[in-house]
Amino acid sequence: MKWWQKTIAYEIYPRSFYDTQGKGTGTLQGIIEKLPYLQSLHIGALWITPVFRSPMIDNGYDVADYTDIDPMFGEMKDMDQLIQEGKKYDIRIVLDLVFNHTSDQCPWFLESKKDRTNQYSDWYIWKDPKPDGSAPTNWRSIFGGSAWTYCKERNQYYLHTFAVQQPDLNWADAQVRKALADVANFWLDKGAGGFRMDAVTYIKKPEVFADGPVDANDGMSAIHPLTANQPGILDYLHEFKDRTVKGKDVFTVGEANGVETDELPQWVGKDGVFDMIFSFDHVHVPLGKAEEWCYAPEWKLSELKQALNNIEKSTGEGWCPVFFENHDSPRSVNNFFTCEGSYADKAKALGTVLLTMRGTPFMYQGEEIGMHNTAWDIHEYNDVSSYAQYQFALKEGFNEEEALAAVHRFSRDNARTPMQWNSEVNAGFTSGKPWLKVSEDYQKINVEAEETDNGSVLSWYRKLASIRQQHEELISGSYEEIMAEDEQIFAYYRKDKTHTALVLVNLSSQPADFDPALTQGFSVLVQCQKNQTGKLAPFGVLLLEKTNR
Ligand code: NOJ
Repeated sequence: MKWWQKTIAYEIYPRSFYDTQGKGTGTLQGIIEKLPYLQSLHIGALWITPVFRSPMIDNGYDVADYTDIDPMFGEMKDMDQLIQEGKKYDIRIVLDLVFNHTSDQCPWFLESKKDRTNQYSDWYIWKDPKPDGSAPTNWRSIFGGSAWTYCKERNQYYLHTFAVQQPDLNWADAQVRKALADVANFWLDKGAGGFRMDAVTYIKKPEVFADGPVDANDGMSAIHPLTANQPGILDYLHEFKDRTVKGKDVFTVGEANGVETDELPQWVGKDGVFDMIFSFDHVHVPLGKAEEWCYAPEWKLSELKQALNNIEKSTGEGWCPVFFENHDSPRSVNNFFTCEGSYADKAKALGTVLLTMRGTPFMYQGEEIGMHNTAWDIHEYNDVSSYAQYQFALKEGFNEEEALAAVHRFSRDNARTPMQWNSEVNAGFTSGKPWLKVSEDYQKINVEAEETDNGSVLSWYRKLASIRQQHEELISGSYEEIMAEDEQIFAYYRKDKTHTALVLVNLSSQPADFDPALTQGFSVLVQCQKNQTGKLAPFGVLLLEKTNR
């Protein structure tokens, strides 16, 4: 097995992680300072969302210079130090390559927009207006509003799958592909442990640019179903792999919205384009699809389990990440539960699945202490897409209160509030004014308080992470689900040559029955809540093991 299959990964949203300068935004030095903390969670790979030079319209996902560090986070020497210090803790640094688009302040785009005949003219997706001067198609960008913006210098529109300030690169241009591979190699030479590839399913554009069916009151058509995962995309990605990571001891994980589970084998594994990809089907079960914002679907636990199983099964010989949170989704304790019960109990139950499924677990900062959603006034949000969500909901006929409720439920800022380190001012995140409000309950939910509490979410995460590392079957073992139809319990075996683990997790607020015969011959490795024979307490967990005969 490869190192990245055996380890546990942790995602950092650096702006909100730890500030060492008192400026209200997290720094690279802040990450360095917290390496021992991360080591205590058995982390071996640190995915850091973009820290490259950026105007920060989308908090770094709008890159102006891929080979420079934004002063907000520090300097190149801090990144060099992080990569080197990380090695001392056996933690490799995984960088986030945003290659579907750049910032509109990237020199490539500034040149490209000047005219139709310069060296960079074809580096972006430029199209003529419709005869009436309007946008080339009726596509709605992922953040809301038209996906096209007019540029008078060229009398053309440029495409942006995301915000106006994030023009899409033209991967059909060989120079673009070469430039991006050069960027990846620059970071590999510096010692990066791998890459997360942002929004990668959008890099190949459709052959024909045509209007889609109007799907909402704004008269537009969501861009995602029309442009994601186009035929030929894998050719670009194979070329990228060959030029960069192939044969190196690093891993790649693609953000692959729009890849169906039956296509996974072409994307991951030995002959795939990535080592792993993030599939979002399970997160979308309670969240709904991005293009349907503000509409929360009805769902059942069996659907969530099925989504997770499909991902698991479809990777075949390949490998997948296991995750419930990231910087784009609401906190998992809110997203997956609307029932009664404490956040801590819910977090421990979900954390158990995270750390015992087959695949590399990706924790997201704050998940390990049970952080949860916030609910603010609309003007208190920072996230560029939350405003679009709000406007979209209003246009769909929701009133202001309902539109705000949708933002509370779906906003990406839910996961971006500053990390809660202790009960001091600003949760110990900064001595300055935090760029985004700190969650109100930090006095109770914070690392320092939870470190000294045996029953805390953090202690549970540490315990489970260490059990995972000590029991080989939880890493390399096969995965077999049982009780698939059960609407309360998620249960499965993890089995290798010598041992079988049995995981039983009650993901509901009511006691849940299971057949006591299941546990015969097993001994308990760890459990959570007061379970009885054949009955799991609300959010109860039983992790058992037996030696194979
Ligand atoms: C996906 C990233 O995770 C998200 O935060 C970002 O806004 C978009 N891609 C655009 O880069």
